Amino acid sequence: MELYQTYLAAVEDCLDRLFRTDAPYRQLQEAMRYSLLAGGKRIRPVLTLAFCALAGGDWQRALPLGCALELVHTYSLIHDDLPCMDNDELRRGKATNHVVYGVTLATLAGDALQPEAFGMIAQAEGLTAEQRIEAVTVLARAAGADGMVAGQVLDLLGSCSDLAAVERLHRLKTGAMIVGAAELGCVAGGAGPALRAAAVDYARHLGLAFQIQDDLLDVTADTQTLGKPVGSDRREGKTTFVDLLGEDGCRRTVADHTAAAQAAIAPFPGNMFLSRLAGQLAGRKR
Ligand code: IPE
Ligand code: IPE
Ligand code: MG
Ligand code: MG
Ligand code: MG
Repeated sequence: MELYQTYLAAVEDCLDRLFRTDAPYRQLQEAMRYSLLAGGKRIRPVLTLAFCALAGGDWQRALPLGCALELVHTYSLIHDDLPCMDNDELRRGKATNHVVYGVTLATLAGDALQPEAFGMIAQAEGLTAEQRIEAVTVLARAAGADGMVAGQVLDLLGSCSDLAAVERLHRLKTGAMIVGAAELGCVAGGAGPALRAAAVDYARHLGLAFQIQDDLLDVTADTQTLGKPVGSDRREGKTTFVDLLGEDGCRRTVADHTAAAQAAIAPFPGNMFLSRLAGQLAGRKR
């Protein structure tokens, strides 16, 4: 998709401008940039830009918001891979942050990415003060104690073993940030309440489909394509959607949520990109 490449290039360029400080502690910046620029799919910032455009806004104005959320996402992955969490050694096709820089610096690199993200929103050009405040609120809710981190707690410390519990954990761990990404686009684009509600609905379904697919890929993909270790969930003793629904059940559920996501934005002219994106993610291999 040509537009995806346009958005992706803008996101990469925006991220590449960050953390170039030449300070005595520049190992910190190096560790932050190592994970930030390791070639993620950038699904979340792309959603932000696309929803800004769907709302009739200039998507470039949404760039600092989408990239801020990507900073938080990257921190969450650095910490997720730590020995005290999923204990994984490969991410985005490269050695994980703590393998290269050690657990201490990896933890600190993740720590630093969080306030930097909120600072980036506060300083975003071309947005009103109200928009910036709302964007900070959206990201705080998506990433915080009732959002992504809550999901990580349930995943790592909870005992989620039935479908309802696993679905709730997925909605928090992965869904919250994907919903936040869509909402940030609505904030930047000045979307009205109807589009905002549709964006949340779309992103909820997309987020669930995305994590079910992630669980499925952990079982069916190969490490080279996926860029992270396969079999990590089983090794860590997680109950995933694959355990509960089987592989075919997962594929059907992904298809159902994808269709529901597409239906949510169907009434809005210009929905083609987001609709196709949902379809493509359902068939993703990494
Ligand atoms: C990985 O997210 C963590 C999950 C929530 C499944 P992505 O699959 O978006 O990872 P990157 O950013 O492309 O590396
Ligand atoms: C992690 O979920 C989601 C985060 C909040 C970081 P996973 O543990 O399933 O993500 P992967 O498979 O390591 O990317
Ligand atoms: Mg994890
Ligand atoms: Mg993990
Ligand atoms: Mg996973």
